[in-house]
Amino acid sequence: MNIVTVTNQKGGVGKTTVSVHLACGLAERGYKTLLVDLDGQGQASTHLTGDTAINRRPNGGAELLFDLEKLKAGISPLTTPLGVDLLFGHNALSRIDEGERTTGDAMEVRDYVRALPYDFIVIDTPPAMQLRQLAAVLWADDAGARHDQSGHHQGAIGGWISGEGAAESSR
Ligand SMILES: Nc1ncnc2c1ncn2[C@@H]1O[C@H](COP(=O)(O)OP(=O)(O)O)[C@@H](O)[C@H]1O
Ligand SMILES: [Mg+2]
Repeated sequence: MNIVTVTNQKGGVGKTTVSVHLACGLAERGYKTLLVDLDGQGQASTHLTGDTAINRRPNGGAELLFDLEKLKAGISPLTTPLGVDLLFGHNALSRIDEGERTTGDAMEVRDYVRALPYDFIVIDTPPAMQLRQLAAVLWADDAGARHDQSGHHQGAIGGWISGEGAAESSR
């Protein structure tokens, strides 16, 4: 199982586009793939389902990954026509950042997230360095982030950092 987190502190740089295409490409190649949409706008979820109001559903989406009891009991992501399973993004996900949870809580659920029955989990993130974004990096094997140093591609996702390295440096 591999977790790939697509993240950047800026909006409009292609996180959702990369996430959806990566997840669909993996599914097309026969990998059992879950897309986790941690962005409350739910744009990746709309891309996969065609439902433009999916982010108004109050629960049953990506918040489940932050709920140890529900993870232990077993969660049921949506299936989508493109062959990618989905934990959708919705407005109430902001509660994850606003509550009392810490990166310690994110580490507590990490093994359960990583034990989900998928070859790949692709995580799309909101453009803010808060708990949702940090958790997604801590859970990941690889996190796509802009690290271009030339200054010519300020808005583009330019490379990949190691999730293990990110986990180490944020401890
Ligand atoms: N490689 C690309 N070339 C041109 N336009 C792109 C590319 N990737 C994304 N876009 C466009 O840029 C806009 C922002 O992309 P999006 O994936 O929603 O960014 P983010 O999730 O980082 O906010 C969208 O309109 C998208 O269609
Ligand atoms: Mg996005």
